[in-house]
Amino acid sequence: MRETVQIRAARLEDCKRLAVMFHKLWPTGSIEEHGKEVRSLVDGTAKLTMPIGVLVAEIERDGVIGFVEVDLRSHADGCDPAQPVGYVEGWYVAEKYRRSGVGAKLIAAAEEWAREFGCVEMGSDAVIENDVSQRAHAALGYEVVDRCVHFRKRL
Ligand SMILES: CC(C)(COP(=O)(O)OP(=O)(O)OC[C@H]1O[C@@H](n2cnc3c(N)ncnc32)[C@H](O)[C@@H]1OP(=O)(O)O)[C@@H](O)C(=O)NCCC(=O)NCCS
Repeated sequence: MRETVQIRAARLEDCKRLAVMFHKLWPTGSIEEHGKEVRSLVDGTAKLTMPIGVLVAEIERDGVIGFVEVDLRSHADGCDPAQPVGYVEGWYVAEKYRRSGVGAKLIAAAEEWAREFGCVEMGSDAVIENDVSQRAHAALGYEVVDRCVHFRKRL
C-alpha cells in the first residue's frame, strides 16, 4: 500500500468502528455486545486476569482499517509452559486493504507488545476452514503445532 499505515493502541474514539470489525470476525456476538467489550478493554474497566492489548492499523484517508487483539496466556499448544506466551486472540483487516502488508504490520506490533512482557514465544489459532489465515500465519513465521476438533454434548 502506498499510504503510510500507523499501528497504535486503540483509543475510545475507535470503539464504534472496532465493534463492527469485531462483529465481522466473531459474528456470534452483536455489534452492541462487541462495542461494550472493546470499550471496557480500551478504557481499562474490563475485569482481566491477564493484560490484553487492542492495537489498530490506521491510514489518514480512511481511519482505522484493521486490528489485532493480543494477550498473555499461561500456556498455549506447542509452547513452553514454563512462562506465559503472547497470544493472537483476534486479527482482522478490512477487505479492501488486504494483501498489502497491513496484517503483517499488526502481527509485528502484537509480537512487540508480547516481548515487552518478557515473552519469548507467540501462539495463535485459526479454524481449519480458514485457509487464508493459515497461509498468512505461515508467511509470518508461525508453524502448525496441532490440529483440533472440538466436541460438545448436552448434559
Ligand atoms: C488474515 C488477515 C488478517 C491477513 O491480513 P492481510 O493484511 O491481508 O495480510 P498481509 O497483506 O500482511 O499478508 C501477509 C502474508 O500472508 C499471506 N497471505 C495473506 N492473505 C493471503 C491470501 N488471501 N492467500 C494467500 N496468502 C495470503 C501472504 O504470504 C502475505 O504476504 P504477501 O502478500 O507479501 O504474499 C486478513 O486476511 C483478514 O482479515 N481475514 C479475515 C479475518 C481472519 O480470518 N482473521 C484471522 C482469524 S484467525
